[in-house]
Amino acid sequence: MYSFLLFLHSVIRWGVLLSLLYALVRGVRGWTGHRPFTPTDNTIRNTTVTFSHSQLLIGYTLYFVSPLVASYRYGASDTVSLPLRFFGWMHPLLMTIVVVLITIGSSATKRQSTDTAKFRTMTIWFALALLALICAIPWPFSPLAQRPYLRLF
Ligand code: HEM
Repeated sequence: MYSFLLFLHSVIRWGVLLSLLYALVRGVRGWTGHRPFTPTDNTIRNTTVTFSHSQLLIGYTLYFVSPLVASYRYGASDTVSLPLRFFGWMHPLLMTIVVVLITIGSSATKRQSTDTAKFRTMTIWFALALLALICAIPWPFSPLAQRPYLRLF
């Protein structure tokens, strides 16, 4: 179960990242070009929320089955390495903030009365989420913890 969850978590990261990026591109275009907020824009907003909530759920499950996190939780505090601390609290905390930003941004977008305001709201909240997301992903080049671009079984 652990390796399957890790595989899913690794793949869905691309769903979160790409849907967020695409929503942002459409958000900036719609905001600056005063375009109508179409059903496609709404679907992309919704898809981003769905990916991020699925990833949050898998992440929290992973947190309680990961041997890595277990050794962080039960290890002596002065011997805990940076990657262990990263997965032990930095990554979960930052990623939870990312999902909260996406969720607030998405529901605030729905409540706006004009199309330009919808695009502006979505762009601002999703841009903040993207910034935190990029910092919190364990990229192969990250100084905090390195993981592959795609984990296979
Ligand atoms: C948008 C949200 C998230 C993204 C994009 C994301 C992304 C990732 C990626 C790319 C990895 C490396 C996977 C691999 O080893 O191939 C990872 C590992 C991990 N994530 Fe997340 N994550 C997110 C949210 C969360 C949350 C909310 C938690 C926990 C509360 C969490 C817990 C973990 C843990 C424990 C690991 C390491 C597991 C291990 O190696 O044993 N993640 N995450």
